[in-house]
Amino acid sequence: MSEDKRPVTLKIILIGNSGVGKSSIMNRYVNHRFTNMYRATVGTDFLSKSVHIDGDWVSLQIWDTAGTERFQSLGTPLYRGSHCCLLVFDVTSTATFSALDVWRKEFLVQGEPEDPSNFPFLVLGNKTDLGNREVSRRKAQQWCEEIGAEYFEGSAKEDVDMEKPFVRAAERGLQEYKKHTLENTGHFQITCEQPRGTPRNTCEC
Ligand code: GTP
Ligand code: MG
Repeated sequence: MSEDKRPVTLKIILIGNSGVGKSSIMNRYVNHRFTNMYRATVGTDFLSKSVHIDGDWVSLQIWDTAGTERFQSLGTPLYRGSHCCLLVFDVTSTATFSALDVWRKEFLVQGEPEDPSNFPFLVLGNKTDLGNREVSRRKAQQWCEEIGAEYFEGSAKEDVDMEKPFVRAAERGLQEYKKHTLENTGHFQITCEQPRGTPRNTCEC
């Protein structure tokens, strides 16, 4: 990619209503853990994980945000500099799916990506292990086609298909990085604004 072999850091952000499972998804992917206990995220939090993409190691900085409205004012500094955004909903709740349109619009306004119409969004339906499904795969895919996003679904609880969206987020994020961040900075290391929450343990597995 370049003579400069410092790893690229990609900022991947998870947004969506409270309780859809953003923290659970991040913890399942990075730490391979899950708990049924619900502890609402306060402010924000991030975990790092190194992945091998297109022959290069990249460091994914995965930012987990609070779904509660009272923390949405954090949006501006939080969303900026993202390379890929995962819009998360709960397949057993139509309300969480409908809310994604607002989350997406808010991300575009507050995050100010360089090329909003081509910014990589992935949509992730969580809790497929539950029987009381309200949002079908077909309905979710239809909306994704409308907005030009890719669709994934699975279960953080049962560890079903939790890798795929992050692998894709890394690929799409790397494309976004090469197109914009690299052009602007001319080198690989990016700087991000620090989240307000205290960063937790990192995983380089
Ligand atoms: P906020 O931090 O408030 O925005 O919520 P969140 O989106 O981070 O949700 P969180 O990961 O805390 O999960 C909320 C609840 O849903 C917890 O009780 C989890 O155990 C549960 N949960 C998360 N993922 C799944 C899943 O795949 N299946 C089931 N059955 N429950 C899940
Ligand atoms: Mg959370």
